[in-house]
Amino acid sequence: MKILITGGLGKTAEPLISLLLQNHYAITVLDISKENPLSLNGRVQIIQGDICDSETVKKATENIDVIIHLAVNVTNPKNAALSFQTNVFGTYNLLFHAIQNHVKKVLVASSAPVHMSKNLLALKQSNPNADYFCSPDNDFTYDLTKNIQELIVQNFSRTYHMDSLVLRLGHIVDGKAQTDLNGSPLSELMYCRGGWVCRYDVARAFLKGIEADFCGFHLFHIIGSYQASECFDLTLPKEIIGFECREHFVNY
Ligand SMILES: NC(=O)c1ccc[n+]([C@@H]2O[C@H](COP(=O)([O-])OP(=O)(O)OC[C@H]3O[C@@H](n4cnc5c(N)ncnc54)[C@H](O)[C@@H]3O)[C@@H](O)[C@H]2O)c1
Repeated sequence: MKILITGGLGKTAEPLISLLLQNHYAITVLDISKENPLSLNGRVQIIQGDICDSETVKKATENIDVIIHLAVNVTNPKNAALSFQTNVFGTYNLLFHAIQNHVKKVLVASSAPVHMSKNLLALKQSNPNADYFCSPDNDFTYDLTKNIQELIVQNFSRTYHMDSLVLRLGHIVDGKAQTDLNGSPLSELMYCRGGWVCRYDVARAFLKGIEADFCGFHLFHIIGSYQASECFDLTLPKEIIGFECREHFVNY
């Protein structure tokens, strides 16, 4: 089975690629970065290119069975035009070519509003029909584009009968090392406390998404912190793809 990972040179992709290689998947990475921080040469095919470029994506999606879509504008989040270009148009472009090239399944990393955990219960009570909440601060554009990205996946999936999963991830940390992704101890991390997910659980969730037999569009919250069940429905991943987080950050 051939897997295309967009944004495959980023932080989320690293343990995922290791896990997929252990499970003998053939991997192609499509990433705009000219660097190769993961030393992936020889073990995966790397296409240096932009998910917004039609020809690049057309070629990259040929003969692919499953796409894992991780590419995102985080390098310059204040550049709203680039965020809409990458996160919104890039997702449209990718799914357009996925349909043209008969890709069987698309798995997309989205973002759970874990940075709002203190206000989330109150927000949910006052907006019972709302499904997604954007931050009112610097993350507003990022959140908004991620929410639009989910809608794009949902509509492609329903219209063209494409099987797809949107995984709304909590704030990703390293549960084995008990650090954030920059190596600082979790004991010092207050950001999104109660809404963390271990990077190795994220990798396992995508693997389950590849291997599980499901139909249509599904959206899950993938958050490990034990406090998260107060605000998020965490039962669906187990029900539909047989996935549960292992790391629950019980000491934090
Ligand atoms: N890191 C977290 O805590 C977190 C939390 C929730 C959701 N997510 C989601 O996980 C996914 C991956 O995030 P990450 O933290 O690994 O980010 P990252 O910045 O480490 O990786 C993103 C990758 O996308 C690439 N990229 C950017 N623009 C591109 C383009 N136009 N074409 C091709 N490649 C492009 C970058 O070069 C980079 O390698 C994103 O969808 C993000 O929204 C991350």
